[in-house]
Amino acid sequence: MTEVAKPAQATGTVSEKAAAQAAPLPDPPATAAAAPPSPAPPAPAAGPRPRPAATPIPVGQVEWLLATASRAPSIHNTQPWRFRVGEDAIELHSDPDSRLRVDRGGREMLISCGAALFGLRLAVRGLGYLPQVDLFPDEARPDLIARVMLGQAVAATEREQRMLAAVPHRHTHRGAFDQGELPAGLLPGLQHDALTEGATLAVVGGPTAYPKLAALVADAARVQAVNPIVREEVLRWSRLAGSRARDGVPALAFPQAAEPGPGRLTPRDFDLGRHVGRLSAPGPAGPPPPATAVLLTAGDSRADWLHAGQALYRLLIHAATAWVFASLHSQALEVPLLRELIQTRLALPGHPQMLLQFGRARTSLATARRSVPDSLI
Ligand SMILES: Cc1cc2nc3c(=O)[nH]c(=O)nc-3n(C[C@H](O)[C@H](O)[C@H](O)COP(=O)(O)O)c2cc1C
Repeated sequence: MTEVAKPAQATGTVSEKAAAQAAPLPDPPATAAAAPPSPAPPAPAAGPRPRPAATPIPVGQVEWLLATASRAPSIHNTQPWRFRVGEDAIELHSDPDSRLRVDRGGREMLISCGAALFGLRLAVRGLGYLPQVDLFPDEARPDLIARVMLGQAVAATEREQRMLAAVPHRHTHRGAFDQGELPAGLLPGLQHDALTEGATLAVVGGPTAYPKLAALVADAARVQAVNPIVREEVLRWSRLAGSRARDGVPALAFPQAAEPGPGRLTPRDFDLGRHVGRLSAPGPAGPPPPATAVLLTAGDSRADWLHAGQALYRLLIHAATAWVFASLHSQALEVPLLRELIQTRLALPGHPQMLLQFGRARTSLATARRSVPDSLI
């Protein structure tokens, strides 16, 4: 059985084509540092303009804005995004050269870009502005994913400050989780996050749904283990210990054994029998993760993938504020037949975009990101 949160009025979403001012990210407060001071509003522009003049991007904050956005998760840590910084807008572009060959339609690339977009929106909130976002603002330039401007000056909420504080320790968790349930109310909160971003987080519960999902994920691992393109891409994007690369999945972040622990979905095999992984495997004694979930979208368009990415990063950061992390599993969704089977056999009310398992952990492992200059175009 899958449990899906009831649809709610989404807030803070961005609309395609039309610019939308995203509301502050809602939710419960906590102690936090005050937001950095907001720059003065711009002088009114001369002559007619299609929309009110945007606030200039503060030059001294660009590095922080882009570094925060770039902490987003991405498939194989490819960081398939690039930024162009203008006077009053930051453009987010996808980088098709980083698209995996197995990611035929660019779904995983756009989920990753959506995650970076959420990171940029959150960073703009940290500066004390509402982000104003145009999604796919130019049909003639499909790689231009979003244009983000500084809208109305509104101080970041305490919750947004807590989320910003969780960005550095948020990570994809491939090791053992600690014993214990998720904090009360967290899972519904994550479901709310997904809805707010135009997606749905369906919890996989009940005695039959998880075994069905686990079997399909294991099937995907078997299929992909003999796919030379998949293997080649893992080799290209996994990094040996001591590597100074600032992209790809480092040896410290994946284990050698790809066997799942109890209650854990078969992980992606980054080691490929090379014995290079440096992370301790969860092992058979590790406690099962308290929650397994599927991130869904109503449609399966480029815009849906962007929504999925924003939802993904939003809920991952929210979880990280409580030191709850997720293992991410997208292998089974890269095989069209298995993706379809996951949707139908689990009776999911939408297109599966990501499989997640949540648990508590007290450790964090931040993987490298490209330098900000390297992410500019
Ligand atoms: C679309 C997408 C698919 C992903 N698929 C997997 C996966 O199948 N297995 C896995 O271990 N991690 C997966 N990840 C996590 C990335 O490997 C991870 O985000 C990246 O290496 C950066 O590390 P970090 O999340 O710890 O910052 C995925 C991330 C995204 C955005």
